[in-house]
Amino acid sequence: MLSLSVNGQSYPVDVPDDMPLLWVLRDVIGLTGTKFGCGIAQCGACTVHLDGQPVRSCVLPVGSIGNKAITTIEAVGNTPSGQKIQQAWLDVDVVQCGYCQSGQIMSAAALLQRTPNPSDADIDAAMSGNICRCGTYVRIRAAIKQAATGKLEILQTIVSAPEGARS
Ligand code: FES
Ligand code: FES
Repeated sequence: MLSLSVNGQSYPVDVPDDMPLLWVLRDVIGLTGTKFGCGIAQCGACTVHLDGQPVRSCVLPVGSIGNKAITTIEAVGNTPSGQKIQQAWLDVDVVQCGYCQSGQIMSAAALLQRTPNPSDADIDAAMSGNICRCGTYVRIRAAIKQAATGKLEILQTIVSAPEGARS
């Protein structure tokens, strides 16, 4: 029997040590906000925090966690950086289908926690492992900057007129 600290609560779980944390969170504990995407640490949909660091829960054996604190999307809004990121996500209206967004928010909150005013390069490095099939990357970047600076970035939309309509 393992004991996991998840979102400030202790959960006894009777599972094999090599079961990925994602399965335990979703199927045993019932926290389904964290998503399964690829299952091989390539998409970031399953990102949670372990002692504040973003990790891919789909490939993290639950037996390796010990007494480290796990934070999921259900509780990241209780942290200062998570609260700022979630508010910015709403202000910038980041989400499309939403499937990748738990992971995006978890990676962004961890970035803001360790780098309060991230550069474009910092954002690229922190977010490059989180894939969005809907292509919300421009709004994700704007939301992270807003969370860091409190300023809403103007999003540029490039509209191409058909060739014949330009004269
Ligand atoms: S489901 Fe874990 S990285 Fe894709
Ligand atoms: S919002 Fe649809 S996959 Fe990212």
